[in-house]
Amino acid sequence: MSTVNITIDGKKLQVEKDMTILEAARRANIKIPTLCFLKDINEIGACRMCVVEIKGARALQAACVYPVAEGLEIYTQSPNVREARRVTLELILSNHDKKCLTCVRNRNCELQTLSEELNISQLRFEGQSTNLPLDNFSPSIVRDPNKCILCRRCVSVCKDVQTVSVISATERGFKSAISCAFDKSLADVPCTMCGQCISVCPVGALREKDDTDRVWEALANPDLHVVVQTAPAVRVA
Ligand code: FES
Repeated sequence: MSTVNITIDGKKLQVEKDMTILEAARRANIKIPTLCFLKDINEIGACRMCVVEIKGARALQAACVYPVAEGLEIYTQSPNVREARRVTLELILSNHDKKCLTCVRNRNCELQTLSEELNISQLRFEGQSTNLPLDNFSPSIVRDPNKCILCRRCVSVCKDVQTVSVISATERGFKSAISCAFDKSLADVPCTMCGQCISVCPVGALREKDDTDRVWEALANPDLHVVVQTAPAVRVA
């Protein structure tokens, strides 16, 4: 296999020609943060958390989609890079429902971990927030668009791995969202409830429905009373 010589953070490396900068860095144990990237499934350069500086290039480049080339000199921790990642993350957080304490992914959330790693202790950007209804009509999956960071991992796994394709990106700009066709619920499209979208979601935008959800459903709909009575988790003495 043909190789190229590159330098990452001063470290000289000989890597395979068909690698991306991210792959080459990982091979050399150099950490570059990622959010949307999911190897072989979602390699679309959407979130820009993985940006790096390349000597001679006019703009920062997304390491997860940028191919290596002979002589590339790459910097993964320059002041420009660190500032760009920080601003990007703050912008993502500025439109993220931050009810972390009641979120099922609290302490197991890639966004939360990255915020800690980048030392983000307060938010500089306040603005309009997405306020879309919770989709909790499916028997097994709850989708909260207000926690979605638009990484599109769920879209890729649903389309390319499960070949079901019931969710996709819609609209543009601030109105961008991940949803089912015609804004339908997951309950009204041919979702197979495989749960793959939940397993790849970096945050709590997709999660399994649990007994707590069923209690709220039952309280809202007395016809479902029997479901509550038979669910052990909600048995009241
Ligand atoms: Fe590279 Fe999202 S991880 S752009």
